[in-house]
Amino acid sequence: MTATILEVQNLAKHYRQPGNLWSSLSARSRIIPAVDDVSFYIKANETMGLVGETGCGKTTIGRTVLKLTRPSAGRIIFDGQDVTDLSPRQFRPYRRQMQMIFQDLDAALNPKMRIKAILKEAMQVHHPMKNGRLDARLEELVAKVNLKKSKLTNYPPELSGGEKRRVGIARALAVGARFLVADEPTSALDVSIQAQVVNLLKQLQATLGLSYLFISHDLRLVELISHKVAVMYLGRIVEMGLAGRIARKPHHPYTHILWSSLVEKKSRETAGIPNPPEASTPGVFDFQRPVHGCRFAPRCPVYHDKGQPAICTDPDATPPLRDVDASHKVACHFPL
Ligand SMILES: Nc1ncnc2c1ncn2[C@@H]1O[C@H](COP(=O)(O)OP(=O)(O)O)[C@@H](O)[C@H]1O
Ligand code: SF4
Ligand SMILES: [Mg+2]
Repeated sequence: MTATILEVQNLAKHYRQPGNLWSSLSARSRIIPAVDDVSFYIKANETMGLVGETGCGKTTIGRTVLKLTRPSAGRIIFDGQDVTDLSPRQFRPYRRQMQMIFQDLDAALNPKMRIKAILKEAMQVHHPMKNGRLDARLEELVAKVNLKKSKLTNYPPELSGGEKRRVGIARALAVGARFLVADEPTSALDVSIQAQVVNLLKQLQATLGLSYLFISHDLRLVELISHKVAVMYLGRIVEMGLAGRIARKPHHPYTHILWSSLVEKKSRETAGIPNPPEASTPGVFDFQRPVHGCRFAPRCPVYHDKGQPAICTDPDATPPLRDVDASHKVACHFPL
């Protein structure tokens, strides 16, 4: 049986919205439930995709599982060890094994350091090495991520978007990562470069046995790389299961909308018809008008078609994630 590398139990992260005196008196209205009661596990050598619109809490989950942000509630278990309450010193042996590939590499890579120095520094953090050994390891690393050796003397701003991603991945591997959170790792890249980065991640997984939490707002991309997928809406997982099933046979109305809008987009592209600008959708939690029960109700076609059944917005009847079958869960009172 394959070992579980990461288990997340009932994770929550609530932010306080900074506000004026009046809003500070009304404590409830100032809480943003960015992540609410989220549970999942990832096995060794497995990729879990986390998909949902901007503001639904994906980055918060990624940062919280890596202990870059403190959870409000819940447990984080890495390789069998509950790491939730470990001090930074106790967590240090786990830190190198759990790494983030940042969305914004321009901010994450020091523009004043050459690539070689960035990677050498990462390799030395946990394992100080002699120079000869360091150079040999550096060559191996650069080869693993298919980065040209000539790029080692460059500074980050001199690299292309795709090359910067490779450096980001190499840096995570340099410290000895086994589990990677890849947060929108291909955003702002051309489609062909996106595919190269995804292929590289897959290839590294096959050779090094890595596990990934792959975060993206693009279900098509998530489906390409993930074994299983969790779909998030306003801080909650609304559907979770094997990647192909989630995309092609969704049971949650929100997943259905995500996927059918992609299918429409693709057929417009095939027919050479330009896509309309992306609609601005209310992805962030509206704490002025909190929704009770199912948070998707205001946008849910099933809820409207069924004449707005009370159970959908009952504060005591938030739909829990229920098994559709052994490998598929959905949180909806009227699944498709
Ligand atoms: N440090 C913070 N302080 C207050 N609110 C935050 C903070 N970080 C994120 N949020 C809020 O939490 C919600 C989820 O954000 P985020 O995890 O970045 O979503 P995503 O990555 O899916 O776009 C958003 O409403 C965002 O505004
Ligand atoms: S619980 Fe009701 S509102 Fe929520 S997704 Fe299902 S049908 Fe729609
Ligand atoms: Mg994000």
